[in-house]
Amino acid sequence: MKSTKTSPAKKPIKKALAKPVSKKTRVAPAKKTAPSKMRNRKATVRNSAIHGRGVVARVPIKAGERICEYIGERIGWPEALRRHPHDPEQPFHTFYFSVDDDTVIDGNVGGDFSRFMNHSCEPNCEAELVEGKGDTRIFILALRDIEEGQELVYNYGLSLDERYTPTLKKQFACYCGSPSCLGTMLAPKR
Ligand SMILES: C[S@@+](CC[C@H](N)C(=O)[O-])C[C@H]1O[C@@H](n2cnc3c(N)ncnc32)[C@H](O)[C@@H]1O
Ligand SMILES: [Zn+2]
Repeated sequence: MKSTKTSPAKKPIKKALAKPVSKKTRVAPAKKTAPSKMRNRKATVRNSAIHGRGVVARVPIKAGERICEYIGERIGWPEALRRHPHDPEQPFHTFYFSVDDDTVIDGNVGGDFSRFMNHSCEPNCEAELVEGKGDTRIFILALRDIEEGQELVYNYGLSLDERYTPTLKKQFACYCGSPSCLGTMLAPKR
């Protein structure tokens, strides 16, 4: 098994994004998930100061520990684009994790609490890609020691091909609140 660290969303999704029908800030409805899937021994879902719901540590977590796997239905990009947005009133909200050019994990279908992890410009977690026989699995690891009750966040590394205009940056505005917040969830262009 080969393991690499990566950012979650490398594939442009903008072309699939529709115009917002409402400018009000609201949190998109997520599919109902069995209560038992809304936590594991280390983490659970809570209201977040960053956005909507987030995931917090239930116990102290050591740097390097695996916290959870990002699960959901594995689909191709054409199907991902067809499904997007899952809520037309929140066209920039997504539960997708881009594995590679062929595969997206849709956390809104068959997913669990892991899909509620928010983005931060100063993350305390990162995504690890583990290549198995037939597929690549995504695990969330602690980047540093984390205290019980802290929100678990990773850098989405969202990237779009088009020019990052002020409007686009605003559509992907970041509310992580960290001192080094870029103000947008879009990763800087290389
Ligand atoms: C995987 S969901 C995370 C769960 C989300 N908070 C919820 O309640 O549904 C990803 C979406 O949450 C929002 N989000 C996550 N991190 C954010 C941040 N730092 N600033 C603003 N919105 C964020 C964006 O709408 C993003 O598309
Ligand atoms: Zn930020």
